[in-house]
Amino acid sequence: MTSIPKTMTAAGIDRPGGTLYTREVPVPSPGRGEVLVRISAAPVNPSDLARLKRGGFDPETYIPGLEGSGTVIAAGSGLLPAILKGKRVACTAEYPASGTWAEYMVTKAGKCFPLNKTIDDEQGSMMMVNPLTAIGFLDIVKENKHKALINNAAASALGRMVELMGNRQGVPVINIVRSEKHAETLRNSGSKYVLNSSSDSFIDDLGRLSHELNATVLFDSTCSEQLGKMIGVLPDSSSVVIYGNLTGEEHIHVNPRKLIDNNINISGFFLGQRAKENGLLKNLINLRIASRLVSSNMKTAIQGRYPLQKVQEAVDAYMGNMSAGKVVLRINSLEIV
Ligand SMILES: NC(=O)c1ccc[n+]([C@@H]2O[C@H](COP(=O)([O-])OP(=O)(O)OC[C@H]3O[C@@H](n4cnc5c(N)ncnc54)[C@H](OP(=O)(O)O)[C@@H]3O)[C@@H](O)[C@H]2O)c1
Repeated sequence: MTSIPKTMTAAGIDRPGGTLYTREVPVPSPGRGEVLVRISAAPVNPSDLARLKRGGFDPETYIPGLEGSGTVIAAGSGLLPAILKGKRVACTAEYPASGTWAEYMVTKAGKCFPLNKTIDDEQGSMMMVNPLTAIGFLDIVKENKHKALINNAAASALGRMVELMGNRQGVPVINIVRSEKHAETLRNSGSKYVLNSSSDSFIDDLGRLSHELNATVLFDSTCSEQLGKMIGVLPDSSSVVIYGNLTGEEHIHVNPRKLIDNNINISGFFLGQRAKENGLLKNLINLRIASRLVSSNMKTAIQGRYPLQKVQEAVDAYMGNMSAGKVVLRINSLEIV
């Protein structure tokens, strides 16, 4: 078993919205029900950027990074930590002072899932958040008997997963992207229904296509100015599920008459809350499904790999072209491939 040093390199930020850097901090120890993971890879996700910008943490101790992969090298007391010891896992962070953008992370054992040999460290590091969210979306579609779904920012990693799962389950997906370039990319990769929100005819196109396919659920991660108009053309009794805020808008503007007259229901989706509602068994089933999908063709595109010491460069590269694929921090790895 690898020996555990007293200190480690971890990312930090001087203030919310500030500059990322790396520093030496003590390696944390796992307590009851917790494990210590030696991190191998960790992606940069929109939720990481939102948190870094929003703040609400102590910059002295905060270590960013929501998800990652690595090996459990120490276990606190309890059965699950003992079972996981020595295993390669996908994991998510539990504590603000122990994120995945570090050489080691302490987290709850229940936030780790063993990786099978067919999933490499990089794909494993992205196995939790987006695949489980895509599974959650398709569950919502099934639970509410929607015939088709609409998804925004659809050139994203999550967007590609939602469409893949929709195709597998016979649920047509209307993909909304914000540039003709992304629309072309999606059409060339086989997407049947793609709308460009920058086009003059977008709102009319959305109204026509959503009625044609009876697409009565819109998953929106943008909260753009257009949202009110989009809601206004959906079929009656549609649901709008807000799951992201890529524009950073503080408010969404919706005509209340449209909600009342057309019986539109607006709700939020947060994977953490959904997982709590799912319960242990359903979460385990979903993780197995995610593992199987990531083992087969549900791969996340990667545009770049960076050492932890270049964390700010990694974030800048990702923000420069989010649809080009994820940027992955390679940690405890001698080579950046
Ligand atoms: N609620 C939850 O539990 C949950 C869970 C997972 C993911 N999410 C959300 O899902 C979304 C996608 O995540 P991801 O990891 O798949 O992202 P990603 O692969 O990193 O890609 C981000 C995408 O967002 C697009 N985008 C960025 N700013 C935009 C804006 N202002 N308007 C429209 N599109 C914009 C980018 O398109 P361009 O190339 O055009 O910039 C890109 O396609 C994020 O909002 C994330 O927070 C939420």
